[in-house]
Amino acid sequence: MERKRIHPEGPEFSRIIAGAWRWHTVSQDTVGKLIRTALKEGITTFDHADIYGDHGNEEIFGNILRSDAGLRNKMELVSKCGIKFSSALRPKTWVKHYDTSKEHIKWSAENSLKMLATDHLDLLLIHRPDPLLDPTEVAEAFSELKQEGKVLHFGVSNFTPSQFTMLQKFLSFPLVTNQIEISLTRVDPLFNGDLDLLMERNTSAMAWSPLAGGKLVGGEKEMFGKASKYNASYSQLSLAWLLRHPSAIFPVVGTTKTDRIIESAKALDIKLDRQDWFEMLQWATRKEVA
Ligand SMILES: NC(=O)c1ccc[n+]([C@@H]2O[C@H](COP(=O)([O-])OP(=O)(O)OC[C@H]3O[C@@H](n4cnc5c(N)ncnc54)[C@H](OP(=O)(O)O)[C@@H]3O)[C@@H](O)[C@H]2O)c1
Repeated sequence: MERKRIHPEGPEFSRIIAGAWRWHTVSQDTVGKLIRTALKEGITTFDHADIYGDHGNEEIFGNILRSDAGLRNKMELVSKCGIKFSSALRPKTWVKHYDTSKEHIKWSAENSLKMLATDHLDLLLIHRPDPLLDPTEVAEAFSELKQEGKVLHFGVSNFTPSQFTMLQKFLSFPLVTNQIEISLTRVDPLFNGDLDLLMERNTSAMAWSPLAGGKLVGGEKEMFGKASKYNASYSQLSLAWLLRHPSAIFPVVGTTKTDRIIESAKALDIKLDRQDWFEMLQWATRKEVA
């Protein structure tokens, strides 16, 4: 599995990342199998958020790390903070909202450490742009977490280029990624400046829902006439399409099946021809480029 720094001063990640958003839908034993299968395939980076699984997924993952002390050193852990909603574990919240206050960022990161049974996160992201975001508070929270060794690197998720640029101005270290939705059903970031800004900053995107949550793998035979040419599955072609982009996108795959983890890892072996890439884009947008 190819590995790459997501930013020259950022962490080195596996080019395919495993996302834990859906992992509460399977047993803890299966989560253990998913982790070990991913590591065996060279997928060493795991994407979490405080809220996944109704605020429970980090702890399930942490239980696997608690039961095998050697695992943590073999992986990189990403988590997110800033979204709040009511749940059994968060009874004081009555309305879904964003909270990027210094107090909440620090509390949430420290709670993620406890849940994940680790002493540091490799990367912490602000999950969504918060209209009440005060960049000085975010900068203070990030700096303190960094100084304390609790979080090594920082980034954002679902930010527009102007939101990214604004927050970066207040930090003395780089935002190392913007985790955004990119797939053959969500091609806007290739044209709306999202990826341009990251390339200008020598930074790569993490692509969430790279298979459009599973919708991309059900058919669409016209696009996937390529499957036999590349001896690849639909999901591998969809990932290969993202991997072909020169900004070095890191797809975050969300499967809960070990065989699909193995299948995803092999997408890196597929090098799509330029014309095939454009034909897939044409299918996705239903039109020829101008
Ligand atoms: N930053 C954000 O705002 C944000 C938002 C959403 C997600 N994320 C991150 O992105 C990760 C990935 O998101 P996602 O789960 O939507 O990604 P995805 O990989 O696009 O979709 C995963 C879904 O597709 C299904 N699937 C995968 N391969 C398949 C195949 N060959 N045939 C049929 N179904 C298939 C999976 O089912 P099986 O489990 O049965 O394989 C699963 O339900 C999340 O885990 C999370 O870490 C971030």
